[in-house]
Amino acid sequence: MTERRFSEYADRNGLAILEVLRHEFSTATSVLEIGSGTGQHAVRIASAMGHLNWQCSDLDENHESISAWLALAKLANVLAPVSLDVRTAQLPTSAYDAIFSANTAHIMSIESVKRMFALVGETLTDGGIFCLYGPFQEAGECSSPSNAAFHQSLRSRDPAMGIRDIEQLDEFGERSNLRRRRLYAMPANNNIGVWIKDRQKGSDNDHA
Ligand SMILES: C[S@@+](CC[C@H](N)C(=O)[O-])C[C@H]1O[C@@H](n2cnc3c(N)ncnc32)[C@H](O)[C@@H]1O
Repeated sequence: MTERRFSEYADRNGLAILEVLRHEFSTATSVLEIGSGTGQHAVRIASAMGHLNWQCSDLDENHESISAWLALAKLANVLAPVSLDVRTAQLPTSAYDAIFSANTAHIMSIESVKRMFALVGETLTDGGIFCLYGPFQEAGECSSPSNAAFHQSLRSRDPAMGIRDIEQLDEFGERSNLRRRRLYAMPANNNIGVWIKDRQKGSDNDHA
């Protein structure tokens, strides 16, 4: 039997995420999702935003669930998941004009998060948009007691996990020409950070 897993969190927070992406990805065409998980975000967002070509990706262990969600939804604008582990992936340059990832930064080690930002910087087109959803800390502080408790529970599960500082994500972004333009407050003390890939000095687009 095919395993189509269900995440209550993805289901509950999906509509609020969709509302932000309707705005941020309104003119995007080609989206890479990093860490598609169950596959629920891909189905919800791509079915509501038919102008997007959505590429799912994740570690191989999650492909069965993603594929099962895609088989049920039968969406023409979503591609089957590709294997993508940010620790080892090589991605083509300037291949996507938008990238989305949800609830990945606190699960990955900080080295992997740094590598994810480097990959995003490489594979986004100039002017492309990266939306990262999840809980973040600001100035080293969690935004709520529940996030602080979540941070501690992640740390006790695996010391490499934990809620990340938005300032540190900005630093990773700066190294890859990614400049944050917004931080949306989302339900349940989550956020969406939005980074834009700056046009490279001397690129052809400077003369357009
Ligand atoms: C908490 S789940 C979130 C899943 C989904 N995005 C959601 O919001 O429901 C974390 C996701 O990060 C992925 N992940 C963890 N380490 C990764 C890595 N090194 N490269 C790519 N994805 C990774 C996991 O496989 C999993 O899908």
